[in-house]
Parts: sequence; C-alpha cells; structure tokens
Amino acid sequence: MTNAAALRNSSNPFLSGNLAPVDVETTAFDLRVTGKLPDELTGRYLRNGPNPIGEVNPDSYHWFLGSGMVHGIRINNGKAEWYRNRWVRDRKVAKSLGEQAPPSDWPANHVQFASNTNVIGHAGATWALVEGGSPPVEMNYELETVRVSNFAGTLPQAFSAHPKRDPRTGELHVMAYWWGWGNQVQYLVVGVDGKVRRTVDIALPGGPMMHDCAITEKYVLIFDLPCLFNLKSAMSGNSFPYIWNADYTPRVGLLPREGVATDIKWIEINSCYIFHPLNAYDAPDGTVVLDAARHEKMFDVEQRGPNEGFPTLDRWVLNPKTGRATEQRLDDRPQEFPRMNESLIGLKNDFGYFAGISDVFRQADLIKQNLAKQTTQVRHDGDNFGYGEPVFIARDGAKSEDDGYVMALRHDTETDLSDLVVLDAQDFCGEPVAVVSLPTRVPNGFHGNWIAD
Ligand SMILES: [Fe+2]
Repeated sequence: MTNAAALRNSSNPFLSGNLAPVDVETTAFDLRVTGKLPDELTGRYLRNGPNPIGEVNPDSYHWFLGSGMVHGIRINNGKAEWYRNRWVRDRKVAKSLGEQAPPSDWPANHVQFASNTNVIGHAGATWALVEGGSPPVEMNYELETVRVSNFAGTLPQAFSAHPKRDPRTGELHVMAYWWGWGNQVQYLVVGVDGKVRRTVDIALPGGPMMHDCAITEKYVLIFDLPCLFNLKSAMSGNSFPYIWNADYTPRVGLLPREGVATDIKWIEINSCYIFHPLNAYDAPDGTVVLDAARHEKMFDVEQRGPNEGFPTLDRWVLNPKTGRATEQRLDDRPQEFPRMNESLIGLKNDFGYFAGISDVFRQADLIKQNLAKQTTQVRHDGDNFGYGEPVFIARDGAKSEDDGYVMALRHDTETDLSDLVVLDAQDFCGEPVAVVSLPTRVPNGFHGNWIAD
C-alpha cells in the first residue's frame, strides 16, 4: 500500500494535501443527506482520478500516471444508497493488492497503464478511460473491474478519456494518440452498440499530447498544439515524456464529420495549450466557435503535472474559408474542467460550469458562465472548501438550457472529508438542493459523470 499519510506532506504538489491518495477501498451504505435529493435522480455519480498504489517516488511522480480510482455514489428514490471507491484494476494495481490481473482482450504485452482520467457509461457498461495508448477498462455497476477491453475486437490500439457523445446519434467521437504511432493520431467513432464503426488516421508534423477534441454539426476539431512526445526525455527516464516545444506551429484542424484526413482544414492559432473545450459549434456565417480553458503553455518548466500558469476561458472563431482565427478572452478567472448541458454538445450553448483553480491546480470555487449575457457567478462556500469538476443534469421536462442540477464533489479541509453537492443550476450560489456526506475524503481528481440507470 502507498503510505498516503506521509505523501500528504510531500514536496511534490501533485501528491500533497488533497491530491494525496487514499489507501483503502471503502463501502458505505445509507449516507447522510442534508436537504432533499430530487426523486427524479436514479443512478450513480462516478468520478475517476489518480490514486497511486505501491512504491511512489515523490521526486518523479507525475499526476497523470497515478493508478486510477473510481469513486461512486448511488442515488435512488431520494436516498444516497451507497458510496464506493475502487482502484481500477490493471496489472500494477492487481499485483499491489495481491490479486490476479483482470481478464484482457489484448496480448499480454499490450500497453497498459493507469485508467485514471474519466469514467463513462456507454452501450450498457461502465468504462474507466485514459489517453496515451492504454485501453478502456470495463467496470460493473458496483465498480469492480470486469475486463480490459478492445470493444469486441473493433478498437485498433488506443482510446481517449474524452469521447464526445453526439446528442443526436448517441455515438462517441474520439481523438486517440499513442507515442508508438509516431507523428500520427487517430479519429474514432464508436457506435451506440459499443463497437468502433469508423477510424481515420491523421498524420501530423509532431506527436502531440491530444487530450480532448470537440465536435460541431459539420466538423471534428483536432487540437494540434505544441506539447509533444519527446524521445530524448523518454530515454532519460521521464515517465510522461510530453514536453513544450515553442517551435511547433499551434493549429486546430477542422475535419468534416464524414471526411478523410486530406479534407482537414488547418487553422493556425496563437500559442497555447488546451486540455478541455467547453463546446464548439457552427455559426450561421460558416465559421466555427470554440470555447475552451486556455493554458499559456504545458509541461515546459513543470514536468509533474499542469502548472504553467492559470487557465482562462477563451473563445476562438475559426474561419475555414480564410484559414484564419480570431481569439478573445471571455474570463480571466482561473478555471478548468468545463462542463455543460450535454444535450447541446456541438450546438450553440449559453451556459458553462467550471471548477475554479487556485495554485498548482488546487480546485477551489465553482463557476457558472452565462456566455450569452457575459456574466459569471462564483460559488464560494468558504476557504476550506474545494470543488471538483461540476456535472450538469437536466431536469425531467426541462424548459431551458440551465433548468437542472449541478453536481460536484467538494472537499473540506477542516473535516478532511468530502461530500457530493447537488445544486439547482438556476440558483447557483443559493442553498444546495442536497448535500451527501461521504465517509472519507475524495482526492482531487479528474472527470466524472452522472450515469442515470
Ligand atoms: Fe481531461
């Protein structure tokens, strides 16, 4: 087991405080609820994040490589029925826990590292996901690992932690990258049956870390940005050898939704890095609007996690006719982990929800952006509280885009426990609809989802 208590005082900021791992798997039933959980919520809120296990070297630990742990809260009939946290089993986790490695659809030498970045429901199953070449891991309803999957033999090699679900078709759109492909990435479409139905190989000038993508009705957006696989860094022992390269031309590609690589219109943008778009959509004049959390650089000075200055909310308008982009800062408050009403992915949206960021990627306040009115609401519950990524859930029979709930994990440094906060999205700074008390802290992690039954 990792010595979580000792790591909390680590000099590595990505191992200390509430980024330190927890060292036990907990199961708890009938959680305390303050307020009233809406009767219409039946399902699970799940969230994935790094929770290193075994020997951890604080000098070289990279936040992106800690073993995956999924935290889940089951809500049914106005009750919080259970909380569970489970490591996502891979070879390393299984060995550390003295268990058999999980069944795998892949050869024994296939790339496999921590599935620590996202957890989604698709095609009737639960999937723990990561980028960079490691395959999807199927989990069961109670978060036990089922198998390392190749989507019934249809996944060529790599997947991503950020599939974009087209709300009109239910299909997943994915940009996958893997250092073993060299200067190439792969666009995948996964059908509602959980099988890959289409792949497009895309050659690039370098091998970028391509964390996410965006879709519009017409295009898939490809973020070809200057954080690149660096062989020299890999050879010198860097466990996550993606390094900033100021000489690389930053650009966004517009791939027509059913097009091939030669159809891509590349548009240069000013130097930056994007982990996460909020959304993109086609404007009536033929341009493409992209809103995203913008980082000035990534992995230039800091090699242990994202820590190259504060991310802001920016807008790019990409013109496929002229090949040019305009850029605008929408909000300079530090913010990341953008989410929205996902029935509008690829379509014009007015609202976005973000986790505020304080120093070294500490999660802080909760932010709601009204893009139409250009106003911002910041929810600050006290300096002891830090919010993770907010998830938006539309109310049954919703009458407007923000008619629904915002759900997020919150850590309290005073009690060193976490809770799940459910807000009325239209009363963002008001009294929570419900707060579910958890029996443990949940380390700051990456991405989660509400997965309705
Ligand atoms: Fe992400």
